[in-house]
Amino acid sequence: MSRFGFPSTAEAVTSGIDLTGTTWVITGVSSGLGRESARVLALRGAHIIGLARSQDAAAATLSELSIQGTAVACELSDIESVRAAAHAIRGHALSGIMANAGIMALPTLRQTHGIEQQLFVNHVGHFELVRHLTPMLQPGARVVVLSSEAHRMAEKRGLELENAHGESSYHAWKMYGRSKLANILFARGLARRFEAAGLSQTANAVHPGVIQTNLARHVANPDRMFARLKHIEKTVEQGASTQCYVATHPDWSQTSGQYFSDCAVLEPIAAAKDDALAETLWTWSEALVNRI
Ligand SMILES: NC(=O)c1ccc[n+]([C@@H]2O[C@H](COP(=O)([O-])OP(=O)(O)OC[C@H]3O[C@@H](n4cnc5c(N)ncnc54)[C@H](OP(=O)(O)O)[C@@H]3O)[C@@H](O)[C@H]2O)c1
Repeated sequence: MSRFGFPSTAEAVTSGIDLTGTTWVITGVSSGLGRESARVLALRGAHIIGLARSQDAAAATLSELSIQGTAVACELSDIESVRAAAHAIRGHALSGIMANAGIMALPTLRQTHGIEQQLFVNHVGHFELVRHLTPMLQPGARVVVLSSEAHRMAEKRGLELENAHGESSYHAWKMYGRSKLANILFARGLARRFEAAGLSQTANAVHPGVIQTNLARHVANPDRMFARLKHIEKTVEQGASTQCYVATHPDWSQTSGQYFSDCAVLEPIAAAKDDALAETLWTWSEALVNRI
């Protein structure tokens, strides 16, 4: 039973937690939930390695937040940029990674390295980044992957990797949902690898809630969408709570391979708990990034 819930803020769930001496990698630090998570983890004493599309954007965010962190460029649609980011982070002992950056509901098909862009940015880019950072994770370190309740939109079609390019059919929301299903399966696959290797690191996925951020930039009528979702809307401060809670609180130090929402474990769709599918995704992702 979780002691926090829907209204909790990231500050509330980390209250009393001393992160002095810890180091965290956060992607998508320049906006929304990544920015708020960086602010709050730094408030608790953590060293933040903030990743954004450009070094200037990451540095500007850390400066605006008055954080003495490390700014690193990481364009997730560019594998070379992802690898350069991992290289820049080498030498740090990491307490955790928040794979937080994301894009949503691109209205028309866009591809990156021949792969539908939401799947690439939200999943493949993070897969490559985390793969390179895993050896830097300290014992007990936690990987938190931002997913979404939108993963349920992928229920009928599943991962549909045979349509990874998006050319057989393209639907903005279903493709976003697929990428968010991939986020849960990646966390699950990573958790299984940690466990199989006898390691104490954990990996979990979270849905942050519904929060008005720049994520809606590609939605045709965001005002109408948020008006419809008003009854479940959270502030950014509340929206960042689940990822900060799962990342730092002693309550979850042993929990791995789970999906969270409102600061509690939530049951995802059956496909998100399918270990064979998680392995298929892992193998597919590995082959893809090795090919690029
Ligand atoms: N907000 C919600 O209601 C909601 C609900 C469910 C799940 N989520 C998930 O929460 C996470 C954070 O979303 P948010 O609401 O904070 O959105 P946001 O305000 O748009 O922030 C997204 C961050 O990701 C970065 N990003 C986007 N594309 C990138 C790329 N190709 N390479 C590197 N960085 C990139 C953005 O950088 P730029 O600003 O430079 O583009 C930004 O810093 C996402 O994974 C999202 O799917 C959010």
